[in-house]
Amino acid sequence: MCGIVGYVGHRDATPILLEGLHRLEYRGYDSAGIAVVNRGKLRVTKAAVRVAELRSLVGDGHPANIGLAHTRWATHGEPTERNAHPHVDPDGRVAVVHNGIIENADQLRAKLTAEGATFASDTDTEVLAHLVAARVSAGAASLEDAVRAALWEVEGAYGIVVLDVRNPGELVVARNGSPIVLGIGDSEMFVASDLAALVRHTQQVVYLDDGELATLRADGYRTSTLQARRTDKTPTVVELTDSDYALDGFSDYMRKEIAEQPEAVRRALLGRLDERFSTARLDGLRMDPHELRSVQRVKFLGCGSAYYAGQIGADLVEQLARIPADAESASEFRYRNPVVDGDTLYVAVSQSGETADTLAAVQELRRKGGRVIGVVNAVGSAIARECGSGVFLHAGPEVSVASTKAVTNMSTCFALLALLLGRVRDLSVADGRRIVAGLDSLPDRIEEAIAAEDHIAEIARRFAGAGSMFFVGRVRGWPVAREGAQKLKEISYVHAEAYQAGELKHGPIALIDAQMPSVVIVPDDELLAKNIGTIEQIRARGGPVLAVTNATLPAGLADAEIRVPHVTEELDPILFGIPLQLLAYHLAVALGRDIDKPRNLAKSVTVE
Ligand code: AGP
Repeated sequence: MCGIVGYVGHRDATPILLEGLHRLEYRGYDSAGIAVVNRGKLRVTKAAVRVAELRSLVGDGHPANIGLAHTRWATHGEPTERNAHPHVDPDGRVAVVHNGIIENADQLRAKLTAEGATFASDTDTEVLAHLVAARVSAGAASLEDAVRAALWEVEGAYGIVVLDVRNPGELVVARNGSPIVLGIGDSEMFVASDLAALVRHTQQVVYLDDGELATLRADGYRTSTLQARRTDKTPTVVELTDSDYALDGFSDYMRKEIAEQPEAVRRALLGRLDERFSTARLDGLRMDPHELRSVQRVKFLGCGSAYYAGQIGADLVEQLARIPADAESASEFRYRNPVVDGDTLYVAVSQSGETADTLAAVQELRRKGGRVIGVVNAVGSAIARECGSGVFLHAGPEVSVASTKAVTNMSTCFALLALLLGRVRDLSVADGRRIVAGLDSLPDRIEEAIAAEDHIAEIARRFAGAGSMFFVGRVRGWPVAREGAQKLKEISYVHAEAYQAGELKHGPIALIDAQMPSVVIVPDDELLAKNIGTIEQIRARGGPVLAVTNATLPAGLADAEIRVPHVTEELDPILFGIPLQLLAYHLAVALGRDIDKPRNLAKSVTVE
């Protein structure tokens, strides 16, 4: 999705803004641009290029102490130079960068056109530049007032930064549904849509809330609401630094983050395993045992991989706590007028904490009085703040579009939640102890799973010619198969479908032939014989099979086999995800894909 950076201070703005854009590249974009104020003039450079090329276009640039910059992921209008941000009004006075979508842009554009305005782009954002400039020209008392008045006319989601060339000492920013973080420096202020662009300059940040504006000057900031009421913000000190975003010798972030998983899981478990009572400690839930016991149902809500991880969570809750549980796609939730009941614990799952659909599901739940907690990686994110309580993933910043360590930590945190819910109910001490020990050993087992990388890479190369693949699993293996197919699609662009093993014979088996490999998830559990039967069915129709298993399978059953370590039957799905990440990764490498910049995808999906 789009990225925003802004700066006002005593240093040259251009290198700071370009470096900030570089840090946001992982979010996905198709054009980039920058505007600075130099000698009373607005200097805008933008094009449908990568940030490195923008850097060359800017060259030595124009010395300036204020500016804004943007990476755009096209929504309204083609990814072209004219549609790239920043957008300026016809007089070249006001520049705007914007993340989100102005829903009434067409009406506003028609109105402005009828009044004689002409537009230089197809974007919704340009409308904002016109509206702000009109207010400024009409004598608004301040840029902030002009922006506020313009925003009253606007419907939709936005995170914006605005500058007025005749007022080159301040930036005005606003947020409604799209993240904006202020960074407090020493006689300088930064703003960005993502911490990644800020942490090399400062650890002191302020998260804007929806409906808030801020005016930034070199010597500080002030915040207020759309209704012009002053707000009082307490800066947060973030633990992240620039080195958290370094590649550390890896060729891409996905591979780096796969390798980080043992450490990430250790962090997720730190201080949360209670060996004395064989349970979990999750203080962030803010639920006492009585409240935990009152939960009659658990529903996980998330999108994409977070949704599939939620499905693993639902299985864990049912197995360990014997509470009915399920997972639902957050993107559907609010549109089906969901029945929200007070005995259900709703769990909003998100790495970024900014996914628009998941946030909207949380808001729908809160509006209806549902009890919702967040299981989120990004501290300070919209979902974390909207939920107010929950479990942080502690995976560290995840840059790769294809989520790996966050997904693994999601399932790990769900195991903690399930253990806690189980131990206030009927999960025995012995079973609790078994799960605690299993979780404790999980990081080491993940290390073992990653150690099989060379073998997995070799298998990936064997299957790299396939145009399409099935991922097949049943019960515990089913969400694993879904996530495996998702990972493969995202970064290799090989068509992959996940099916429940029992569903194959109800239709999809018609597609099985020598050109359609199937990856079959075979846990060593009570369904082993059935999964072996599934493999036999596929092979009887000439379909090649890759078995991903922690069981001892009959010799020659599958065409290829990836061995997965074992912890406990309940926790094993967490481990099964690891080789599937590596399979997708190496298959994509074999096909020459750009791993960290998969086409059409963005890291956090902050629009619908
Ligand atoms: C994961 O590999 C995907 N990029 C995607 O499905 C992602 O999980 C989804 O967009 C949800 O993101 P979130 O966890 O930040 O809410």
